[in-house]
Amino acid sequence: MTRNGILALLVFIVLVGALLIVWKTSAQPSIQQPIAYNHKRHISEGLACKDCHKSALTGEAAGRPSEQTCRDCHDPGELEEGTEGKNPEIVKLLTYLKEKAQIPWRRIFQLPEHVYFSHVRHATVAKVACETCHGPMAEAVRPPSAPLVSITMDFCINCHVQQRSARAGAATTRDCNACHK
Ligand code: HEC
Ligand code: HEC
Ligand code: HEC
Ligand code: HEC
Ligand code: HEC
Repeated sequence: MTRNGILALLVFIVLVGALLIVWKTSAQPSIQQPIAYNHKRHISEGLACKDCHKSALTGEAAGRPSEQTCRDCHDPGELEEGTEGKNPEIVKLLTYLKEKAQIPWRRIFQLPEHVYFSHVRHATVAKVACETCHGPMAEAVRPPSAPLVSITMDFCINCHVQQRSARAGAATTRDCNACHK
């Protein structure tokens, strides 16, 4: 190979490497929320998880907080006094509330389509704490940009191997079809 040929090959390898790195990092995007919501601040107001995630103990999906829930304490009427000196994150919230717009919260924890999961079955029947699967959300002072606990198939199965199903009186299922529907 000529010197130029080797040089071209080296440049090519470096470019492919750089592309791979860019691809790898963009494959795990960091999630940005529309408002810098603070879990810790609100838990310290005495709110419980189910006050905002209304079906976490009763339904399959935990649910996102409704705008009405925020409105119970945050009054968009305050915008009329002007925004001078106000917390910009609260101004963003009040603007959504004033325009009666849905706040476009983004999902952090999300299983692929082929996996079935039920909150009531875990949080209520099996009495698994939210923290076991979601990590210290109650301590979060800003929205996490990635899941605090990485939920893999092994994560689910490791617990099923350890924790018995009170309802079935036996080991919890490892049947592929129970989780993949
Ligand atoms: C055994 C593990 C586990 C427990 C316990 C658990 N979750 Fe989840 N949670 C998940 C998984 C897995 C997802 C993603 C579900 C999906 O994509 O279908 C999820 C999703 C969520 C979401 C996203 C929105 C939605 O509607 O589902 C919220 C909010 C949530 N959980 C809150 C809670 C709260 C609050 C508790 C405690 C009362 C809790 N979770 C207990 C595993 C768990
Ligand atoms: C029970 C009352 C209550 C509810 C319900 C409530 N908040 Fe708050 N929120 C507060 C209080 C009190 C503060 C702190 C005082 C302040 O800064 O005005 C606060 C502060 C905030 C802040 C500023 C955070 C910071 O770090 O200082 C944001 C953003 C916010 N709330 C968003 C929301 C959103 C979004 C909802 C609905 C999902 C909501 N709040 C529901 C009472 C509440
Ligand atoms: C005042 C309302 C409020 C309360 C109370 C609250 N949350 Fe949230 N939660 C939110 C909002 C708003 C978001 C979206 C922004 C964010 O991720 O911080 C969220 C996001 C989440 C998510 C990520 C959902 C997803 O789409 O993947 C989990 C998990 C969660 N909360 C768990 C909890 C747990 C556990 C508790 C109790 C310790 C709790 N939350 C209490 C408002 C609340
Ligand atoms: C910390 C322990 C724990 C974790 C983590 C956990 N599970 Fe479970 N799961 C249980 C227990 C205990 C039961 C049995 C509840 C009962 O008695 O009905 C159960 C029941 C189930 C069932 C119903 C089984 C049946 O027989 O129909 C499904 C489906 C399921 N889990 C899926 C999942 C998936 C998917 C994940 C991961 C995202 C997961 N689980 C994570 C403890 C766990
Ligand atoms: C307790 C629940 C549970 C059981 C039982 C289970 N899976 Fe999964 N499986 C999952 C979850 C959750 C994921 C998604 C993991 C992720 O997103 O990283 C998954 C992902 C997969 C994938 C996609 C590839 C991957 O690794 O992400 C395949 C294939 C799969 N499972 C096959 C099976 C087979 C075959 C069985 C039976 C031997 C089985 N699963 C039993 C929960 C389960």
